[in-house]
Amino acid sequence: PLKSIAKLATIASILAASFNVFAEPTEIKFSHVVAENTPKGQMALKFKELIEQRLPGEYVVNVFPNSQLFGDNNELAALLLNDVQFVAPSLSKFERYTKKLQIFDLPFLFEDMAAVDRFQQSESGQKLLNSMNRKGIVGLGYLHNGMKQFSANDPLTLPKDAKGKKFRIMASDVIAAQFDAVGAIPVKKPFSEVFTLLQTRAIDGQENTWSNTYSMKFYEVQSHITESNHGVLDYMVVTSNTFWKGLPADKRAVFKASLDEAIALGNKIAAEKDNEDKQAILDSKRSELVTLTPAARQQWVNAMKPVWAKFEDQIGKDMIDAAQAANT
Ligand code: LMR
Repeated sequence: PLKSIAKLATIASILAASFNVFAEPTEIKFSHVVAENTPKGQMALKFKELIEQRLPGEYVVNVFPNSQLFGDNNELAALLLNDVQFVAPSLSKFERYTKKLQIFDLPFLFEDMAAVDRFQQSESGQKLLNSMNRKGIVGLGYLHNGMKQFSANDPLTLPKDAKGKKFRIMASDVIAAQFDAVGAIPVKKPFSEVFTLLQTRAIDGQENTWSNTYSMKFYEVQSHITESNHGVLDYMVVTSNTFWKGLPADKRAVFKASLDEAIALGNKIAAEKDNEDKQAILDSKRSELVTLTPAARQQWVNAMKPVWAKFEDQIGKDMIDAAQAANT
């Protein structure tokens, strides 16, 4: 009888092993709206590589760029339905889930990306990662893209040059107020539609980072880009509470560590692209650069900064103070 027990045990272990071999890895989806050759596109691919290397056969991560799977209008809803497990919308796109992140849209709040980074890593910034927990959204980390510039089919040198012009904006009331403040007409549209809207002249201009303006070829359909650095376009990588809590603790730790590494790479690429993509746009000669004198830039500041007061109650004065403190 001992022999047959041993035989059974062998058969059982062979069966178990072959089950492992044939067990399908769990599919994880990461959806985003930009091109692959961008900070976010590269971060997502690095995350895929690390997970598949560290948890081989257990998970595959499929990355869907360019709004292929979900776009601005549905990616967060899809996340909450667990149709996608990771998304990284810009900080301007969470308005339906929290008003706190509106702080990142306040015009002329951050002096540069170093200040943005200091604020994000501060206690106040880290607290904001949890601002949507009650809605079922878990913030896992910030990812940089860069500072925003204005573009249009005319040179925008002074605030009055924007008057009456239609600008595509992300779905953010703060950004809408920013354009209202100079008498422009903000139009909320998903990222995937921007090129066509500009090309067909349905809208006159937009605001974006050098990286997005380059990778989406906006510079080919905009005659002028004003180097305004008036605001920041960064991301929050988020998952759903359901998915995150459903992961075994040891796997969750691997996911978090891999994401942190992927974000570090993405941030490095963001810093590089900010210069490289700007240069590539200038070299193309398709679009002319408008640089602002300190006096001209001050006019934009004066026109747009009153927007802060309108949103101070929703965002919190303490948060705004903390963000400003990061400038020094
Ligand atoms: C935009 O809509 O302009 C950006 O948020 C796109 C992106 O994800 O960088």
